[in-house]
Amino acid sequence: MKLDSIKELLGGDKLLQEVNVKGWIRTFRSNRFIALNDGSTINNIQCVVDFENTSEKILKEINTGAAVSITGTLVESQGKGQNVEIQVKDISILGQANPDEYPIQPKKHSLEFLREKAHLRVRTSTFSAIMRVRSALSFAVHQYFNQNGFYYVNTPIITGSDAEGAGEMFRVSSLDPKNPPLTEDNEINYKEDFFGKETNLTVSGQLEAETYAMGLGKVYTFGPTFRAENSNTSRHLAEFWMIEPEVAFLDLDGNMDLAEDFIKYVIKYALDNCKEDLEFLEERLLNEEKTKPQAERSEMKLTEKLHFVLDNNFKRVSYTEAIDILKNCKPNKKKKFNYIIEEWGADLQSEHERYLVEKHFKTPVILFDYPADIKAFYMRANEDGKTVRAMDILFPGIGEIVGGAQREERYDVLMEKVKAMGIDEKELWWYLDLRKFGTATHSGFGLGFERLVLFATGMTNIRDVIPFPRTPQSAEF
Ligand code: 4AD
Ligand code: MG
Repeated sequence: MKLDSIKELLGGDKLLQEVNVKGWIRTFRSNRFIALNDGSTINNIQCVVDFENTSEKILKEINTGAAVSITGTLVESQGKGQNVEIQVKDISILGQANPDEYPIQPKKHSLEFLREKAHLRVRTSTFSAIMRVRSALSFAVHQYFNQNGFYYVNTPIITGSDAEGAGEMFRVSSLDPKNPPLTEDNEINYKEDFFGKETNLTVSGQLEAETYAMGLGKVYTFGPTFRAENSNTSRHLAEFWMIEPEVAFLDLDGNMDLAEDFIKYVIKYALDNCKEDLEFLEERLLNEEKTKPQAERSEMKLTEKLHFVLDNNFKRVSYTEAIDILKNCKPNKKKKFNYIIEEWGADLQSEHERYLVEKHFKTPVILFDYPADIKAFYMRANEDGKTVRAMDILFPGIGEIVGGAQREERYDVLMEKVKAMGIDEKELWWYLDLRKFGTATHSGFGLGFERLVLFATGMTNIRDVIPFPRTPQSAEF
């Protein structure tokens, strides 16, 4: 008999027919009512057990977490809380879950506790909802680019370059750490390493994506990126997924249009396709907010936050204008910011970014034309000699969600920058080549996928929106 999905049965398919479902037991009450979930939907299906005709042995094994196969008739439910239920004819236990050992019991577990059970947490309503939304968002990403004439390129995970120049790389090596080959100067001899040189895990696929944009026109990457930055925050992961479009013949204004259009598309996709999961997550967020003191509660419900992005034009503001606003605003003067903005040239912290979005403009914000000194080497220099054609997109509750730029396409200017920043030009010869052969204006950006999922699900810690988070001192699973 064909396996039925709980989502389809709850949707009204197969009423009065015999059905077969397989899933994991969420609860079992009164020796009679099983709430069963198979991952196809946030909702459980109620299965009514005929306990008088079910063996003691099986009744004992109907425990939270056990995998079961149930056949029975789908009928309208007399009880409250569900429209349909299954009258069980046959139940077999596929895999037991000893209630003395199974950690996910039918009660509210803290998110911290569930992080330690990352291999089982997807069996809770909260995590199954998050992961379905995550899946829908990644599908929407591919759909958007596919519909808009972009090609999907896979850039390498192992690279010899440091795209962001921030030195936050994980080294890749085949050498024996206890007994590495040494040079005459007693340093590790990477020439004897697998690739014959030092390599690392990529921090961004941008540089390689640029090479493909300069031939395919419009491309995007969507892959894992790695950063060994020691930021133990609720917004940083050591391994995260990044979406990086790169477009030839596009300037910074066009790049802003693309980013705004893209973000709105994927958020709308989630609203249209993940209704039940988002309703559940909205409820979860409301309950969580109630536990906080009034002053710290978020003023917006989850769907209101999503509409805040959909229904507003993103405010485009130069870095210089933003600094003026921040220097003169109350939290800065009254020292409510942890870090006080004193002068032009300072990098913004997420508290400033959130102030601009949530308190000052009350729209998502695109900040552009940052000081050259706080941005990466590849950004196009402006005529003022001080700023570069960078853009960051700032979101409520998140801060920076996108970082991007128009790229420096002039060989001499780029070369000068590479030298001034002390970057090893030998590692970048292929990147510099692009500026020698058929160079052109081009732009792109990177969107941190987990920050998007964080925003769309109303979760507050980035560790809760990726199946197996990698953070300092934590790679258990
Ligand atoms: O601003 P970033 O560092 O920009 C780049 O890497 C560019 N090469 C992108 C490009 O232009 N193609 O990173 C881009 C985005 C950030 O805005 C943020 O959303 C996310 O990546 N991000 C992180 N997300 C989670 N954990 C981290 N440690 C992150 N670092 C950056
Ligand atoms: Mg950035």
